[in-house]
Amino acid sequence: MTRLRTERVVIIGAGLGAISAALALAPRPVLMIAPEPPGQGASSAWAQGGVAAAMDAADSAEAHAADTVAAGAGTVDAAIAAMVTAAARDHIHGLTDLGTPFDRDGAGGYVLSREAAHSAARVVRVKGDQAGRRIMDTLVAALDATPSVQVLPGALLTGIETRAGRVTGVRIEAAEGSAPVVVEAPAVLIAGGGSGGLWLHTTNPPRIRGQAIGAAALAGAEIADAEFVQFHPTAIASGEDPLPLATEALRGEGAWLVDRDGRRFMRGLHPDAELAPRDVVARAVFAERQAGRAPALDTRAALGASVTERFPAVAEACARAGIDPVGGTIPVAAAAHYHMGGIATDARGRASLPGLWACGEAASTGLHGANRLASNGLLEALVFARACAEDIAATLGPAPVAPALDIAFAPGGRAADPAAVARLRRVMTDHVAVLRDGKGLRTALAEIAVLESAHDAPAFRTMSATATLVAAAALRRTESRGGHCRTDFPDTDPAQARRSRMTLAEALTIRADCAKETA
Ligand code: SIN
Repeated sequence: MTRLRTERVVIIGAGLGAISAALALAPRPVLMIAPEPPGQGASSAWAQGGVAAAMDAADSAEAHAADTVAAGAGTVDAAIAAMVTAAARDHIHGLTDLGTPFDRDGAGGYVLSREAAHSAARVVRVKGDQAGRRIMDTLVAALDATPSVQVLPGALLTGIETRAGRVTGVRIEAAEGSAPVVVEAPAVLIAGGGSGGLWLHTTNPPRIRGQAIGAAALAGAEIADAEFVQFHPTAIASGEDPLPLATEALRGEGAWLVDRDGRRFMRGLHPDAELAPRDVVARAVFAERQAGRAPALDTRAALGASVTERFPAVAEACARAGIDPVGGTIPVAAAAHYHMGGIATDARGRASLPGLWACGEAASTGLHGANRLASNGLLEALVFARACAEDIAATLGPAPVAPALDIAFAPGGRAADPAAVARLRRVMTDHVAVLRDGKGLRTALAEIAVLESAHDAPAFRTMSATATLVAAAALRRTESRGGHCRTDFPDTDPAQARRSRMTLAEALTIRADCAKETA
C-alpha cells in the first residue's frame, strides 16, 4: 500500500465546514480531500433556508439559544447552544464581508425568514432559497485565492489510521475505486457530511452516505446521538434520487400542507400547524403518505405566481418533475435530511481520539439534541470549523513549510457494490426511518450483519458501520424523543433525557445479539 507523509493538516470534505476550516487555518498548509471539487457534492451547497442568527434588534442570541434547546427535545447541550448562537452575528458579518449577497432591505438590514420552531424571523437568506449555493460560491472563491490549501478532489475516505490510540492519518481511494493510499498527517479534521443517503428518500447529495462518521467509528472514535436523524417533511416527491427540497421558508411565508382533498392536516395536530417542530410535521406527512392521502404543499394562496421568482431552486425542481406550483400543489414526502448524531466532539471540536477533530454534519457537538432547529446546521458548521481550526493551530504550534503532496492512485482495490448499497438503503428505509420499533430495528441489524459478511469493501464498511450505529442506538433508546420515534415506546421517558454515546464495538455487540436472535 502506498504511504505518504505530509505536514499539512488533512481536512476530509469540501463543504461549508471543510472550506471554512481551511480558510481559518491559512496560511498553515492544508490538504483538502473529497470526492468532488470544493462546494460540489456537499450538503451545504444544497441548503435552501439559510443561516439562523439573531440579526434583528428585537431578537437575541439568548432567545435563539432557548429555541434551540426547546426544539432539541431535552438533550441539547445548553452551553454549546449558548456558544454557537452567541457567535452567529459575527459569522454573518464575516460571510457578508467576504461577499455573500445576503438579501437586504431598503435600510440595509438583513431580510430574515421565519422557519419552524423559531420564536422570531431569524434566518438570513439569499434570494429566497439560494443561501447554501451562494455562501459556498463565496467561500470557494476565497479558497481559490488561498495558496496554502491543496485540494485533492476525486478521492474517498475509506479509513482513519491510528497508532497507539492516536490518529496518524487517513486511508483514501479514488472515488471510482483504486488501490488505497495512506496519507500520514499531524492532524485530521473530518468535515465530510452526514448520513442521509443511507435512506432511499433523502435530500442529501448522492455520495453522502455516512462514510465520514463510519470511518471515524471504525477507528474507535465515539459516536454521539446516532439514533437522532432528522427527516425533512417537504422533500418534493418527484421520484428523483435524491429528492429535491421544498424549503421550510415556504411554510414560513404561509404555504399550507394539504391532503388530496385540500384539507390542512397540520391544523388540529399542533398549535403551530405547518410551523410545528420539524419532527412533528415529518411524522404527519409520513402518515398522510402511508394512508394514501397524497400530502402536498400548497403555495398558491401565500405566494401565487411569485413562487417561481422568489424560490428559484424549488421552481427549477418542480419544472424538472413537471409540477406546476402556480397552478397546483407540490407533492411532498418525508426524507432523511440531517443527522443530529455523528462523531462526538467537545467545544473545541476534538473527537475522542487524539489527533482527530470533526465539524459540520459529521460531528455531534450537542447543539441539535434530538431535533435540529431549522437553519442551525450551517451556523454550527461555521462556528465549529473556526473552533477546530483554532484548536488544531494551538495544538500543533508554529505552521511548518509543507510542499504540495503528489498523490497518484494505482488501479486495484474494491469499490462498494452498488447492489449492496441499494440493499442497505432499503433496510434502513424499511426499519430505521421515521417510525421504528424493536422488532424492525433487530431485523435491520441482523440484515446489516449479513450484508457486511458478504461485502467487506472498505468503501461499503464505512456506510454499514454508520447504519449499524444508527440502528443499535435506536434500539437502545427505549422511548420516543424528537426525530427518534419508537411505536413500541411512544412516550418520552424523562429518565432518558440525555445524549447517547456509543462506540462501534458496542454497536457490534448489540448487532451480534440481534443476529443470533433472528438466526
Ligand atoms: C429548509 O430550507 O427547509 C432546510 C433548512 C435546514 O435544514 O436547516
